[in-house]
Amino acid sequence: MHTYLVTGGAGFIGSNYIHYMFKKYGDDIRIINVDKLTYAGNLENLRDVEGRANYSFVKADVCDAAAIDAVFASADIDRVVHFAAESHVDRSIEDPGVFVKTNVLGTLTMLNAAKKAWELCDGSFRPDHKFLHVSTDEVYGSLTDEKDYFYETTKYDPHSPYSASKASSDFMVKAFIDTYRFPANITNCSNNYGPYQFPEKLIPLMINNALHGVKLPVYGDGKNVRDWLYVEDHCKGIDLVQEKGRLFETYNIGGHNERQNIQIIHTIIDTLKEMLPDGDPRKELVSEDLITYVTDRKGHDRRYAIAPDKIKAEVGWYPETCFEEGIRKTIAWYFDHEDWMARVTSGAYQTYYEEMYGNR
Ligand code: NAD
Ligand code: DAU
Repeated sequence: MHTYLVTGGAGFIGSNYIHYMFKKYGDDIRIINVDKLTYAGNLENLRDVEGRANYSFVKADVCDAAAIDAVFASADIDRVVHFAAESHVDRSIEDPGVFVKTNVLGTLTMLNAAKKAWELCDGSFRPDHKFLHVSTDEVYGSLTDEKDYFYETTKYDPHSPYSASKASSDFMVKAFIDTYRFPANITNCSNNYGPYQFPEKLIPLMINNALHGVKLPVYGDGKNVRDWLYVEDHCKGIDLVQEKGRLFETYNIGGHNERQNIQIIHTIIDTLKEMLPDGDPRKELVSEDLITYVTDRKGHDRRYAIAPDKIKAEVGWYPETCFEEGIRKTIAWYFDHEDWMARVTSGAYQTYYEEMYGNR
C-alpha cells in the first residue's frame, strides 16, 4: 500500500489528481495533502474526499523545512508528487520573488526532506521510494517554426519569471538525480483545463466573463498557440510515469491539441450558446461582441507544442479526452458549480482583476 505525500493538492491539478487517484485505487492507497492554501488553494475542491480514512490534510508551506520533516516523520511515505507552486505567468511578471521562493526554494526543501527520510547509510535510497516533480512545457521557451515540437531533449530556454523559476526547480531535481542518484522523475506538461481551475487562467476566465456579459480580454493578436490537455489525462500521465516510467527520466505530457487563443475563445462562446437552455438569461449575455483585444502580456511566448512520443512509447499513455468533449465537460462543471465560482471570484479576486485588467 503506497502512502503519497501530495503537495499543492488543494489547487487545480492537485485536487484533480487526488480525485483521480482515489477513483483508481480506492482504499488501496493513502494520501497526505500538504498545502499552504494560498489564493489558489481551496479545500472546497476536496469536500468529497475529506471524510475518507485514507486521506489527510496538513496546512504547511513547502518552504518550511521543519513542517515538511514532521510530515515525513508522521508516516511511511514512499511516493511524493510535488505540485505546489505559484503557477500564473501574469502574476510572476508583477511579483517574481514569491515564484523563486515557492518554486525553487520550496522544491529544494521537498527534495532535502525526502532525501533525509529515504537515504540509507551507504548513500543509496530505500527501494521503491519515488519523488515526482510536476513541471511545465514553458521551461522549453517558445516555438517559432510550425513544424517544431518540444522534446525531452529540447534545450531549456525559459522567458517569464514563472518559467525561469520552474526551470530552476527542474534543474535542482536533475542535480539531486545526478549527484545523489535520488529516485525522481520530472514531467513537463502542456496547458491543462478542466474542473476546479482558478479563473485567472484563460479558459475559466473566459467562461466566467462570458456568462456575466463581461468583456473577454484577448492579449495581443490572439494568435498565440497553446497545446491544451484535459486535466484528468495529465493526472493519468503522472501516475503512469511514477509507476511504469524509468526512474531518473523526464517525460513530456501533451495531447497534440494546439489552438490559437482566439480559437479557444470562439469555441467557448459557441459551446456556451449551444449548452445554455433557451430562456436562460445568460444566453443573451454570451456574445462575440464581448471579445476585446488588450495590451499584450510582456514577453508573451508565441507557441507551445509537446511531442508526447516518449510517454506514449514507454508507459502506454495516451490522451482519452478530445478537446471538443473536454470543453463541454468543463463548461458543464462550471454550470454545476456556480457557487464555487461566485466564492472564488469574490474579495481578493476583484482586486486582482482590477489591477490586471482595469487599465489594460
Ligand atoms: P494552482 O495555482 O492551481 O495550485 C497551486 C497549489 O499550490 C495551491 O493549492 C496552492 O495553495 C499551493 N501552494 C502554493 N504555494 C505553496 C507553498 N509555498 N506551500 C504549499 N503549497 C503551496 O496550480 P496548478 O495549475 O494546479 O499547477 C500545479 C503544478 O502543475 C504547478 O507546479 C505547475 O507549475 C504545474 N503545471 C501546471 C499546468 C497548468 O496548465 N495549470 C501545466 C503544466 C504544469
Ligand atoms: O504551458 C503550461 C502552462 O500553462 C503552465 O505551466 C502554467 O501554470 C499555466 O498557467 C499555463 O500558462 P499560460 O500562460 O499558457 O496560461 P494562461 O491561461 O495564463 O494563458 C493562456 C494563453 O491565453 C496565453 O497565451 C495568454 C492568453 N490570455 C490569458 C489570459 C488569462 C489571454 O489572451 N487573456 C487572458 O485574460
